[in-house]
Amino acid sequence: METISKFEVRECDLAGRIGRFTVRGKTIETPNLMPVVNPNIVGGENAVTPVELRETFGHDIIITNSYIIRRGDRLRERALDEGLHKMLDYDGMIMTDSGTFQSYMYGSGKGKEVDVTPLEIVAFQRDIGSDIGTILDRFTVPSSTWEDAKQDLDITLDRGSRSLEVMGDMELAIPVQGGAHMDLRELSGRSVREMGAAYSPIGGVVPLMESYRYSDLVDVIVAGKTGLGPSIPTHLFGAGHPMVLPLAAALGCDLFDSASYAKFAQDGRYMTRDRTRHLRDMDSFPCSCPVCSRYDPSDLKEMPERERAGLLSRHNLWSLRGIMNEIRISLKEGTIWEMVERSASYHPAMYSAVRRLEQHKGYLEESAPRSTRRFMCSDLTLSRCRPEFQRFTDGVGSYYQTPDHGRTMILTDWGRVHSTKVEEVLKRASSSGDWVVIRTPLGPAPYDIEDMYPVSQSVFPQPGSLPDEVMEDIVSSMEPIRQGSNGEMVHWTGVDDPPGIEGAANEASFLALKVANIVRMQFGIIGGKGADEVLFGSWDTTRELASRLIIKRSRRTGKIRNVMVPGPDGKEIHLLSLRAEDGMFTLKIEGARRLHGAGSGWRVVVEDETGEYNAQGYNVFCKFVRSADENIRPGDEVLVVGENGDLFAVGKATVSSRLMLEAKAGVGVKVREGVKDKKAPQPFSP
Ligand code: GUN
Ligand code: ZN
Repeated sequence: METISKFEVRECDLAGRIGRFTVRGKTIETPNLMPVVNPNIVGGENAVTPVELRETFGHDIIITNSYIIRRGDRLRERALDEGLHKMLDYDGMIMTDSGTFQSYMYGSGKGKEVDVTPLEIVAFQRDIGSDIGTILDRFTVPSSTWEDAKQDLDITLDRGSRSLEVMGDMELAIPVQGGAHMDLRELSGRSVREMGAAYSPIGGVVPLMESYRYSDLVDVIVAGKTGLGPSIPTHLFGAGHPMVLPLAAALGCDLFDSASYAKFAQDGRYMTRDRTRHLRDMDSFPCSCPVCSRYDPSDLKEMPERERAGLLSRHNLWSLRGIMNEIRISLKEGTIWEMVERSASYHPAMYSAVRRLEQHKGYLEESAPRSTRRFMCSDLTLSRCRPEFQRFTDGVGSYYQTPDHGRTMILTDWGRVHSTKVEEVLKRASSSGDWVVIRTPLGPAPYDIEDMYPVSQSVFPQPGSLPDEVMEDIVSSMEPIRQGSNGEMVHWTGVDDPPGIEGAANEASFLALKVANIVRMQFGIIGGKGADEVLFGSWDTTRELASRLIIKRSRRTGKIRNVMVPGPDGKEIHLLSLRAEDGMFTLKIEGARRLHGAGSGWRVVVEDETGEYNAQGYNVFCKFVRSADENIRPGDEVLVVGENGDLFAVGKATVSSRLMLEAKAGVGVKVREGVKDKKAPQPFSP
């Protein structure tokens, strides 16, 4: 079946993503916010028009209500006659809702429905040319009992599958319901996905938002998305309040709708990112949008009501636009966590909601990239549920190999590690046989893997400024180091005189240790051997390993760039390169061959036919992925293999394994080198 829409995830951060959603030839970038257009007041005095939404505010998607259009004779006839786009004079993407919300707002209790059948309203949306129609789902309130919510859900799902038969060439939104019952939310998401829906809103959440139950909202989003999976564009129905947008986007919501810009304006309310204020309480505007640059609060207060509401609506739209832009920027640069952390200070209920993330560490870890650009921690208790923290601690616990060492030297003030004087002492100590470990809020960070994300990319508050209980946690996180140490331990702050360093420096050994441990942290253990042993052969001492490696360093920074080993006829075999941004290795094809030969994981299995293209250096598209190791995350180095396990290529995963498997569009692996790539060296057998 030809698909009506296409959703492609381009970049990931936490569980959030930057995507491209295409319906019937029109493409929008996600996350995106669609202003609600009331069909009754289009063209009304001072109302914002759809054309203005597109041309002035840059909205290439809006949402309106088909139930309201169908209810009025004049609008219904016009819509059927001219089509929705012409009627609204809008050529962007138009989504329509179905009347579910009206039955919730104005219906009299359970079982009360609007006067249209579920299939009639879908057919009507199709006939007026909506781009995305919505089924007549059952709005399930959070106070519903499990039994009622389940009954509603069964009705919604039944309507969903019947509506799929009449949708025509319109995309169809099938909402996730289930009230406040997380098992039903997850079941709902899973059923919607299995039904073949290509767009899903999370519904029934307006009452949660109206009563500031943002923590429950977090649970509902996570449960629904767990069922839906990452490949279906997800809309948070009725979320137009700026405060919740960053958190919802970080959890993987892609679309939002806002009626609030106009509704708030009618009540004289002015939106900012963190709250709304009443115009009567303002004597200056904290904004420089075209409205606020031109007028003062006193000007607006003197205006006729309609004119004032029109201007406030426009300010509210500018404000929403600024927030959506900031969300997209943060997702692209890998700082959505920091934006979410800031939103915790907007309201106590937001603080609780952000803290609720601690209970969803697993969900966040499943989609979060292996590394992002920066890592700024302000609230350390909270930051401990970031995937980076968990992964680093787990990696040090499971894969890091303690070097053959004499003393253990602990640098207690993490803030000093990059001062030139301290660096010099640490380098000298480690290359002469001390094991150097930095005490950090991430836990103990062995100095040899300090370049690796997230250690040296992190910015932490100074030790002295932390609350006692956080400091106690950090101190006790050093306990495994005491246990792993086989000699004297010295603590150094980095300020007082450095402890005496004995023995001759051996920088080559230190570099070899660095390479071995970064490789182990990244690729783990393969068939009982560390990935370092697989790549370089077994070794006993770092001196011995050093004699086997050719490590090329940057002339300017001294940092490792390339790792090679000697090959036949004096040629060097290039196995790895180190990325400057995050201190992690990328695999060259010969490195990939060695890991592959030892039976390494990190595999993405593709259809043999398309694998031939990957072997020539072309990217892997998600739709050709047959299976993928479940621990693959965006940014991981992966082996692209065929159905019988043959290696085709090596590259970098752009999305998590689950998304790779479930997505029908988009790139899953950016291939760096294929085995038949003209640039790639041909196999070498020792
Ligand atoms: N608008 C706000 N919430 C909902 C919902 O749950 N379903 C539908 N169809 N529209 C909504
Ligand atoms: Zn403004």
